[in-house]
Amino acid sequence: MSSVFKEGLEDIVVSTSEICFIDGREGRLLYRGYDVDELVQHSSFEEVVYLLWNGTLPSRKDLEAHVKALNSTANRKLPPKLVTMLRQLPKKTTPMEVLRTGVSALAAFDPDAADNSREATTRKAIRLTAQMPTLVAAWERLRRGKTPVAPNPKLSLAGNFVYMLSGKKPTDLATKTFDVALILHADHEFNASTFAARVTAATLSDLHSAIVSGIGALKGPLHGGANEQVMRMVEQIKTPERADAWIRKALADKARIMGFGHRVYRVEDPRAKHLRRLASELGKQVGNTSYVKILDTVARVVTEEKKIYPNVDLYSGAAYASMGIPTDEFTPIFAMSRVAGWAAHVLEQHAHNRLIRPRAEYTGHARQQYVPIERR
Ligand code: CMC
Repeated sequence: MSSVFKEGLEDIVVSTSEICFIDGREGRLLYRGYDVDELVQHSSFEEVVYLLWNGTLPSRKDLEAHVKALNSTANRKLPPKLVTMLRQLPKKTTPMEVLRTGVSALAAFDPDAADNSREATTRKAIRLTAQMPTLVAAWERLRRGKTPVAPNPKLSLAGNFVYMLSGKKPTDLATKTFDVALILHADHEFNASTFAARVTAATLSDLHSAIVSGIGALKGPLHGGANEQVMRMVEQIKTPERADAWIRKALADKARIMGFGHRVYRVEDPRAKHLRRLASELGKQVGNTSYVKILDTVARVVTEEKKIYPNVDLYSGAAYASMGIPTDEFTPIFAMSRVAGWAAHVLEQHAHNRLIRPRAEYTGHARQQYVPIERR
């Protein structure tokens, strides 16, 4: 067997893809050839979803139809039996566990569940992208003993999510912040969760199964779970004055600092600056600039001492926390956006499928003789 062995598949190219390009040396990220810096300025999450799935920017008419479908109550609402099921879960179930369970359960209610045609997978992708924010917001309210808020089809996906969490009309800044955060998290080439989703899709399994695989992989602290760990670090640091000494001690203790480093970027992640700006604006609006000040100090010291740079997870949580969103909701918010990328990759995988089945370099025992239990 001829084989290339790289721990963690580092730099191994496993497939071609037309969806997302990362330039790790220059710090650039393109969706279908469009720079995220430009998309953040001019686009909306809904338009980015269209772009990722269809490969082109929509005409006005196509965008209107797409937004109407994505934001309709019919697609956003949860089956009542699913809400009944959520009520049975222990209140301590984390939002990410609820999302994983809820997406799996949604398959049981989906009329296209077993149909893997491009048309059916696109319909399912629209429903899941529309339903996931409703699921996340519903659990947040249920665990606080409140009634879920029905989605409002007049609001964008970002604005509606903020509305369903609080029951109050979202501010323009909150809506904009969420929209930009959703754009920035929507896709990232063959990251761990997308790879997991593609591996599942490549067995000719269905969209919901692939998305559940993605959610499971995203949950870990080395991937999407890092945004929650960053906020736990900020809580431990407590004040900007303590940040310098705290982070130097953590580095001296050889701690892994969440929100830093990347398998592909050798410079700062191009998404981080946008999230820092929004976290800073929101912090000023709510009169709490301490999170961003703490993170700026941490970033300065880690960059100087370790030559590793902020990634997407460093500042996102500071923005969400300024809106009063609990820390364990940060990774589900990441998933609400990444579902767009996962679905794009499932469509691409199914269009040119080959089973993904790598090999292991065997380092176990050589052949052994079986020993009956009474002689062991
Ligand atoms: N803090 C301290 N040291 C680090 C960090 C970090 N965040 N990241 C890398 N290093 C060091 C690591 O200790 C190792 O040093 P040495 O060679 O002396 O042992 C070297 O850099 C290479 O690290 P690695 O773990 O082999 O690198 P990787 O490419 O396997 O890991 C990573 C990439 C993202 C898992 C890692 O940088 C990390 O653990 N970062 C913290 C978690 C995090 O923020 N994850 C989010 C990633 S970006 C968005 C997303 O995917 O969700």
